[in-house]
Amino acid sequence: MLISVSPNAETFHLRNRFFSYIMTVMENGQMENLYFGKAVHERPSFAYLHEEGLHGMSAFNAPEPSRLCLSFARQEYPSYGTSDFRCPAFEIEQRNGSRISAFKFRSYEIIPGKPSLAPLPAATMESDAEGETLILKLADDATDMTLYLFYTIYADLPILTRSAKFELNGGTPVTLTRALSMSLDLPDMAYEMMTFTGAWGRERSVRTRKLDHGVQANFSMRGSSSAEMNPFFILKRPETTEHQGEALGFNIVYSGSHLGQVECTSDGTTRVLTGIHPDNFSWRLTPGESFQTPEAILGYSGDGLNGLSRAFHDLIRTRIVRGVWRDRPRPILLNNWEATGMNFDEALILKIAEKAKDVGVELFVLDDGWFGARNDEHAGLGDWVANTDKLPGGIKGLSEKIEAMGLKFGLWIEPEMVNKDSDLYRAHPDWILSAPNRFQSHGRFQYVLDFSRKEVVDQVHSQIAKVIREAKISYIKWDSNRYITECYSNGSAPEDQGKTFHKHILGIYDLYTRLTTEFPEILFESCSSGGARYDLGMLCFAPQTWTSDNTDGYERQRIQYGTSYGYPLSSIGAHVSAVPNHQTGRLVPLSTRANVAYFGTFGYELDLNRLSADEIEKVKDQVKFMKANRELIHRGDFYRLISPFEGNETGWIVVGKDKKKALAGFYQCLNNANAGWLRFRLAGLDPNRKYRVALRVDVDPRYLAPFIPGLDRLLATLNQSAELYGDELMYAGLPLNRMLFVIQGCDFTSLLIELEAIE
Ligand code: GLA
Repeated sequence: MLISVSPNAETFHLRNRFFSYIMTVMENGQMENLYFGKAVHERPSFAYLHEEGLHGMSAFNAPEPSRLCLSFARQEYPSYGTSDFRCPAFEIEQRNGSRISAFKFRSYEIIPGKPSLAPLPAATMESDAEGETLILKLADDATDMTLYLFYTIYADLPILTRSAKFELNGGTPVTLTRALSMSLDLPDMAYEMMTFTGAWGRERSVRTRKLDHGVQANFSMRGSSSAEMNPFFILKRPETTEHQGEALGFNIVYSGSHLGQVECTSDGTTRVLTGIHPDNFSWRLTPGESFQTPEAILGYSGDGLNGLSRAFHDLIRTRIVRGVWRDRPRPILLNNWEATGMNFDEALILKIAEKAKDVGVELFVLDDGWFGARNDEHAGLGDWVANTDKLPGGIKGLSEKIEAMGLKFGLWIEPEMVNKDSDLYRAHPDWILSAPNRFQSHGRFQYVLDFSRKEVVDQVHSQIAKVIREAKISYIKWDSNRYITECYSNGSAPEDQGKTFHKHILGIYDLYTRLTTEFPEILFESCSSGGARYDLGMLCFAPQTWTSDNTDGYERQRIQYGTSYGYPLSSIGAHVSAVPNHQTGRLVPLSTRANVAYFGTFGYELDLNRLSADEIEKVKDQVKFMKANRELIHRGDFYRLISPFEGNETGWIVVGKDKKKALAGFYQCLNNANAGWLRFRLAGLDPNRKYRVALRVDVDPRYLAPFIPGLDRLLATLNQSAELYGDELMYAGLPLNRMLFVIQGCDFTSLLIELEAIE
């Protein structure tokens, strides 16, 4: 039993072996949070955790002589203006102009498993035995509204999911001007907030700040989860490290504008809110209608940040990602974007694909430029019909030729967008999101189709489904290359414009649902100018995300390291590209480019015909290596070891669930003269098992000159493998001679360490 209810049916204790979440009904009928933290024993009453006292300038929200001041109560889903002056979880504007509400507990229900939130995507369960859901029913009599608060606890994951649903039963219409997914009040503010911020090409860099009085927010108002502030954030104790200490993680299963806000009071308490960003959101309800918020995901770790990441990785890998590709080995792909841009014809594509087949690649992906009048960024989006000047046999013909080579075929689409120079726009100029009589802001010469309108989704669906049905398509890269401006739907009434942002996201989910249902065998990879829409909503449909357009082997270490806090390696699209790198001009050795990309869903983003014979041999070896290790990499436990945000080096390791195999990556940015040894301490291994340890280093033969002292001895050790216990590797660490980096012949070098248990 995961959920216990007190004998008076007023206190609820959700508990698994990782955490306890306890709440109760307050004197005024509203819900109070008593505890969220490491699991504690069940007892008949937790009333002692209720804190109440006399505070100057307070107002009280229960009949005299009550001292219930909501400003000091840790509430479950608070409103503003009835003695609490903090930012609320929701607000309802009523016909009489009032925004005051008071939802009081009426009843509860505990159900096995987890209800669906469709059409919103949400975390799943495969069987009702995996967990339980508590549904609290609250009512606000003055508005004739019901509020349902959903809490799902998994038996075997340190994860709690939450959401809220508003129902207007009768009376007069109301407008929700704020409806967040959850609120969590914590009794102190001794936390640091970690966020994952960035921009195009430098997504999800790690920021850490100490909480302070007032509001600190992590948000997007771009109509997308954004590259600027990913919806995932963490509250950790100051003493928490990667390997120990308490940390709470928050995310939402949503792809649109979001708000993650932490408010600390001058009394030293913390309120965490997350959900749809309330600016530019309003939702009018008429009697009989309801509004369901997206789902919030809370993770708890008593085992440091790596423990928190593993909780999210396990949930995402097994209960967010779904469909046949959840558990299948992910194909090694080659994408032509950095090889050709839009400048290609069938002969060139076939030549690139042939070489890919040669080295062992499994899937060829044709990127942007195959449709309509698409020869550059100015035209074609919206016309999903192959350009037969470039591809005489269309996508059907090309895909058949690629399949005949023994490769699978994948295709790029950007279904939410349109260029004005397109047949679709010429036929339906009112189908873009744009405000009447206002300038239409453009981005990459394109406009956002109004997916809040079903007829727009229908039209795009019919075009894209036709291409897929006619050709042999195994993979789709779904791109979205601009944010939303002038968010106004020409298909909605003025009083419903506040719904447009959210309805647009529901339209995207609708198209994803239709395509993934009709074509269940297709592997989807989401993309948004690289990683500008890396979120749990997308991962419910697309198991992989193109992490960043920045493929530089050095900067990718930071991007993938930052991404790994909230998202598993099986979702991190990572490719080897050409040098000089297109985004940074940097020359990173081929071995390091691969050593970084292995820790994701691996592929190539270049024309292999331009590589030397020697490099092609290395690429063949890389493909073979990834095929042998992808199962471990995509399903194992990941541990961050050394942060690229803090120094010259990066280190990480992935360990199989059974701890029999592991693969560690160590990367050095700049070489140092006369540098000594370093100790690389691993994590996650079985301390009592002995492992065979082998180094994988790509040595540049030009540096094998005998004048480097001690080189012969060093090289001799390279091909030998050691046998060491897990405890030695984790506590004493592996001594690495920094000459290993010098003899690779340049900066930005790396090495891999393969570990296999031998007893
Ligand atoms: C975006 C993607 C790239 C590529 C281009 C095509 O920038 O992130 O990978 O697909 O679009 O236009």
